[in-house]
Amino acid sequence: MEIMKFLGILLISVLPLTLTQLPTQLPALSSLPNFQVANLTFRVIDRNNNGIMELTECNTSFNTFKRYPTDNSIARDWFVARMVSFSHTQTVGDYVFTHYDRDSDNDLDVSDFNAMYTLFDKNGNGVVVREEFIRYYDQLLTNATLSG
Ligand SMILES: *[C@@H]1O[C@H](CO)[C@@H](O)[C@H](O)[C@H]1NC(C)=O
Ligand SMILES: *[C@@H]1O[C@H](CO)[C@@H](O)[C@H](O)[C@H]1NC(C)=O
Ligand SMILES: *[C@@H]1O[C@H](CO)[C@@H](O)[C@H](O)[C@H]1NC(C)=O
Repeated sequence: MEIMKFLGILLISVLPLTLTQLPTQLPALSSLPNFQVANLTFRVIDRNNNGIMELTECNTSFNTFKRYPTDNSIARDWFVARMVSFSHTQTVGDYVFTHYDRDSDNDLDVSDFNAMYTLFDKNGNGVVVREEFIRYYDQLLTNATLSG
């Protein structure tokens, strides 16, 4: 029952995007260069498609990653499983989780995401534009791949 509910929420949150703006068949992420994966990731987070990743969009993305809507945080196992479902390897999922978990408490919460946002925001002007995110996430995925 819970899993059906989760799948329903996942479909509702992902389908409109995949049908309207993204290719209907997403290629396996592992077969794409990291900068393209970063670009697709940006596209998914930037829901209003204005080329800027707002903090609220980051928050929405965080909320869709949660196991249950009422959760306040995301545990490592769940996060890694979600990354694997987007065809990242386990090693990459694990590395990204460790990197995002800024306070190293093995749980991702809103404060970790806020801290990540300031890291993405390279020039510190309070907004994250596409190029900033791509540069950062490309590097993160490259580091993650090398770690395995
Ligand atoms: C990222 O994707 C957009 C389309 O969503 C495209 O216009 C842009 O050239 C891409 N940028 C890179 C660096 O691949
Ligand atoms: C982030 O999402 C949570 C849960 O939906 C909400 O309570 C909170 O106000 C949001 N924060 C921001 C900054 O959007
Ligand atoms: C990736 O690794 C390089 C070299 O160690 C480091 O300078 C950089 O900060 C890392 N970037 C990320 C996003 O992990």
